[in-house]
Amino acid sequence: MNAIVARDTYKVFGRRPERGVARLRDGATREDLRKDGLTAAVIDASFDVREGEIFVVMGLSGSGKSTLIRMVNGLLEPTAGELRVYGDDVVTMNKQQLRVMRREKVSMVFQHFALFPHRTVGQNAAAGLRVQGIPKHECETRAKEALRLVGLKGWEDSLPGQLSGGMRQRVGLARALAAGTNIMLMDEAFSALDPLIKREMQDQLVDLQHKLGKTILFITHDLNEAMRLGDRIAMMKDGRIVQIGTAEQILNQPADDYVSQFVQDVDRTRVLTAGSVMVPPVAIVGSDHGPDVAQQVMRQHRMSRVFVVDRDQTLRGAVDEERVAAAVRDGARTLDGIVDDRVLSVSPDARLSELLPMSAASPEALAVVDGGRHLMGAIARVTVLKALAQCSGTAEADHGTTSRISVPARTEAMAR
Ligand SMILES: Nc1ncnc2c1ncn2[C@@H]1O[C@H](COP(=O)(O)OP(=O)(O)OP(=O)(O)O)[C@@H](O)[C@H]1O
Ligand SMILES: [Mg+2]
Repeated sequence: MNAIVARDTYKVFGRRPERGVARLRDGATREDLRKDGLTAAVIDASFDVREGEIFVVMGLSGSGKSTLIRMVNGLLEPTAGELRVYGDDVVTMNKQQLRVMRREKVSMVFQHFALFPHRTVGQNAAAGLRVQGIPKHECETRAKEALRLVGLKGWEDSLPGQLSGGMRQRVGLARALAAGTNIMLMDEAFSALDPLIKREMQDQLVDLQHKLGKTILFITHDLNEAMRLGDRIAMMKDGRIVQIGTAEQILNQPADDYVSQFVQDVDRTRVLTAGSVMVPPVAIVGSDHGPDVAQQVMRQHRMSRVFVVDRDQTLRGAVDEERVAAAVRDGARTLDGIVDDRVLSVSPDARLSELLPMSAASPEALAVVDGGRHLMGAIARVTVLKALAQCSGTAEADHGTTSRISVPARTEAMAR
């Protein structure tokens, strides 16, 4: 089931907003409405946030992002259209039902997180739990665990004033985690942070999301942040969602001029992932085979080194031509003792920019493995270099119709 569903959702501010919706449906523009004193904040928004994904809403100031997220948790009522959280209709919920939803399903992290200055970090992280009538010791345990997850272990008894801005924002994150909801809404949660701290928080969020499988609706006006975090990104312009897609799709197939202008300056090496440039591992040898088979595979694929995998595709290592030839000469029946387990491997989520130093250090192909070290693909050094060369092409080349890097469809297993 989708965690969040929006269908043809509108929010118009001003007097008699329904009439504004009717006019928009008849083709009026945001500007037309503005002349009559109405603000069309969100226009005909439809999207699904899948369970366990980071869905980013990206747009310039005033494009309607905050309005959208506030409708999701019922702080604002849509003027028209549908909004569902785990199938429940948020629009028709009464106050009591909304409270329950916010307590059990959806928590929110804001840009300027208000901490209680005279309460400890632990108490701040637990705020919201106590008022739900949860016993004190359980609040403390949950807050402590949440603080550990965001890297603030040992700070429970400090006061907010003793923390840096980045650490305070972590307390905000911890509070949302302590609430234990599956869905987290984050409105410009990292926008006020210094670039380096921001990076750290982004990495940590992705990490937490992997560990805890939260569903995150993340709002930002920073495209690089959107590209780093988003499993999928919704691009918003003047109240409308103009494109929804993965970072690669938005880069390589922008829906319109607006999006392509927007993504022009993005550093592609920080966006494209190992999973999007790897090739299926064809030249592999089963670890239960012998050197003669390995030799045959190498000859067939004209390679001097091939990966060795178990029956379930777990990567064991690699063997090279010389040692295989020697083993064949010695009459060895197995690959025992000649498998080199020092294979450079990366996760499919790794960015191209991270592969560069590895590729530079070793002429061997990189192995792409999932969390269980199953071999998913291979990346030759030349692939990394080629992708890079294409990335640094001119802006004009960027607007070519052909995609510069072939992006094989991501398999389910590859998506994080
Ligand atoms: N309560 C309100 N009453 C009237 N107009 C509003 C209200 N809230 C938002 N708006 C208007 O709706 C439009 C969208 O605002 P919103 O805050 O959703 O944008 P945003 O994308 O979050 O922008 P920012 O990046 O600046 O936070 C803006 O024109 C804003 O002035
Ligand atoms: Mg906003």
